[in-house]
Amino acid sequence: MKSTLHRVCINGSLRASNLLWKRAYSTLEPLPTAHILTPEELTPLSEKKIELIQKPLADSVDTRTIVDNDYGVTLNCIEEAHERIRFLLKPTPIQYSPLLSQDIFGKEALPSKTNKSPRQIFLKYENKHMTGSFKERGAINKLALLSAEERSRGVVASSAGNHAQAVSYHAMRMGVDCTICMPETAPLSKINGTKRYGAKVVLVGNNLDDAYVEASRIMKEEGRTFVHPYNDFDVISGQGTLGLELMEQNPYLDTVICPVGGGGLIAGTALAIKSINPRIKVIGVEAEAMQGMIASKQAKKPVVVPFQTTIADGIAVKNVGEKTFKIIDKYVDDIVTVNDGEIAQAVLTLLEREKTMCEGAGATGIAAMLTNKINFTASQKRICVVLSGGNIDVGLLREIIDRGLVNDGRLARLRVVVPDVPGNLARVLTSLAEMRCNVREVEHERAFRNVPVGKTATIVTLQTRGWDHIDQVYKELTNMKFEFSFEGMPEHKYGVKE
Ligand SMILES: Cc1ncc(COP(=O)(O)O)c(C=O)c1O
Repeated sequence: MKSTLHRVCINGSLRASNLLWKRAYSTLEPLPTAHILTPEELTPLSEKKIELIQKPLADSVDTRTIVDNDYGVTLNCIEEAHERIRFLLKPTPIQYSPLLSQDIFGKEALPSKTNKSPRQIFLKYENKHMTGSFKERGAINKLALLSAEERSRGVVASSAGNHAQAVSYHAMRMGVDCTICMPETAPLSKINGTKRYGAKVVLVGNNLDDAYVEASRIMKEEGRTFVHPYNDFDVISGQGTLGLELMEQNPYLDTVICPVGGGGLIAGTALAIKSINPRIKVIGVEAEAMQGMIASKQAKKPVVVPFQTTIADGIAVKNVGEKTFKIIDKYVDDIVTVNDGEIAQAVLTLLEREKTMCEGAGATGIAAMLTNKINFTASQKRICVVLSGGNIDVGLLREIIDRGLVNDGRLARLRVVVPDVPGNLARVLTSLAEMRCNVREVEHERAFRNVPVGKTATIVTLQTRGWDHIDQVYKELTNMKFEFSFEGMPEHKYGVKE
């Protein structure tokens, strides 16, 4: 074991190891109260409470008229949004993760005589909101700022899931009629969640664009207010309350890592944080399959990227917002990307290590950390990763877990070509069993993919114990002169050796 802590334990000096842990924990902030739901949270609010939310600051002016910068949002807008949403939203927990800190930073995460200020990873649990994502912040702020007339005409939104649930839930609470257009392909859990909170759901087309067109039609036809998921100053201000909450909960943070889709979350958060402390770094993470904000930064204007599927469906956005782009271009320090395999592994790590469920988009920050995508300077020590959402279909979760296992070397697919005579498959399986590999599935191929006549290809799906174990299998099968290859493995591992 490499870490100081382990060495101390192995030497039997438990007292010293306790001291080390004590020192590590002494740098922590007290934990905020966890979100405990009350039955009232599922019912509409009284008129009196709605009035309170709409006018939180006695002498406040409507924030939409006092913006005096080029970005359409100021710290003042976000502070007012913060006062507004406080009535309905409890702060989500932020928690230091000793396990992830050590997994990612090794020795640097442990306090010692020579390391007085260890690197610490904090997790911001935005997946703990009632509807499972940060989207409630923007939805409440937008709905609270509607005039009485706008409220009476109702709202409409288009979304693939999290925004839909947030708008549906808070519209129900504020007594505003709500229609949500969702693509027919949206995850079932998100469609059902949206219906459950009371919105009328219109399923239309295969993607968000189709849903947007239908929502725009309804907006015009029925005179409803459109609640945009990100390209709206009130929504951006609402999402920015995350930044203020972080500064209240842990003002010593020096880095905040945040997923990027259309850009509402990171735009608001970065503007809030940088206005308070410009030295704090704000880093965005996009899915490799859809890098709209990176492409826009390069082009110096918002650009449209082609749609591609990714397990981070929440951030698969073709059109980044022009409002969010402007803020991000000014306030966000860097944006990195992660691929689906890396995201899957992050979802799995969060389940195993932190016992918390994150959807693909919500786990991108951890994916970037686990794969060292972010270049930290020596002074970046207190890093907060935003877990932005946790709504995931169980079917997809199963697929993600399997992909995560593949990425982590714990699930492997082996293709062995052997002469098609009795006993050969048994030889392969026996040697795998001797190496303690658990066989999950076996398939045979003869006619396809150029299997020579007289031979058979056996495809074995194996449960393995990490990359060292797969290395052992590789060496052993090579020694035994089997004709084999690993299939569908991450490129940096056995994928290139096929
Ligand atoms: C879980 C999750 N994380 C991050 C994002 C990105 O938010 P934004 O579009 O504001 O960048 C979304 C957007 O829907 C989301 O659902």
